[in-house]
Amino acid sequence: KRNIIIDCDPGIDDVVALCFAAANTDKFNILGITTVAGNQTIDKVTDNALGLMSFLNSDIKVARGAKGPLIREKRPAINVHGENGVGDYQFPKSKELYSNNAVTFLRDTIMASEEKVTLVPVGPLTNIALLIKTFPEVMDKIEMLSIMGGAVWGGNTSGTAEFNVWADPEAARIVFDSKLPIIMSGLDVTHSCGLFREDVNNLLKSEGKVTRMCGEILNFYFKGDHVKKGTFTPIHDACALMCLIYPELYKSRHMPVQVDCSESLNRGNTACDVREWIDYDETYPEVLLDVDMEKCREILLESLYNLDKM
Ligand code: BDR
Ligand code: CA
Repeated sequence: KRNIIIDCDPGIDDVVALCFAAANTDKFNILGITTVAGNQTIDKVTDNALGLMSFLNSDIKVARGAKGPLIREKRPAINVHGENGVGDYQFPKSKELYSNNAVTFLRDTIMASEEKVTLVPVGPLTNIALLIKTFPEVMDKIEMLSIMGGAVWGGNTSGTAEFNVWADPEAARIVFDSKLPIIMSGLDVTHSCGLFREDVNNLLKSEGKVTRMCGEILNFYFKGDHVKKGTFTPIHDACALMCLIYPELYKSRHMPVQVDCSESLNRGNTACDVREWIDYDETYPEVLLDVDMEKCREILLESLYNLDKM
């Protein structure tokens, strides 16, 4: 089993990704969840993470992280995730926060683990950058980072930048420059990792409580302007977990990734050196370039339905 900590900003697709992780505990040993301001404020995303854990009757620890980006103003994605961050869905409010400092939680948990730990950041990279700068000794015990963020081509928040990297480019630069092993699930693959309108309609009709909840929040997600003509929605964050279990579904190459920290139109762009004639070795980030869309969809749905049977 792989030890993981998920750093997230739930977030509709974050919730689905957390459900995917919870459905795959035969593969993942989930040591904790840390939250970061991104899709919504830190209070709202932390409430959502805690609410989801009570909803799932899960005892996974939740630690609250950074209230905002290192330098930039925070700008929640209300248009995509709604006022409360999860498309107005109301989760129960019974679970207690384990720690109000994600950075020390990450340090303590990583250092206490016998085996190395894989971090799965699916929000802005603020907590991870702070961790690397505050406690660099953890780096030897990090197996790798499986990041949802960036893109080789294009963006979603601007023409050239993906939201998580755009939100805190300085943090992303610290992380991408850290020399830690990185898998980057950028928009190039996450735009093909998701569900069709019809899948969401079926989830909405489901008798199971997890699948129905996913149907409801994804129904809201379908109202966002990021969906392809209303027929397909990406579930970006699930990709960073799925590629750890099913690497065979992906095509990838190692290459340098440089984060644009300017104030220009390129803010948050991840400039990837895609020149195929240069052989970049494994010390460079592994950038996912393509995914088997149909298998990805099947696996995602199967996991969600399985969670209701667990
Ligand atoms: C990323 O931005 C957020 O809105 C999603 O949760 C995902 O992590 C996609 O660009
Ligand atoms: Ca996210």
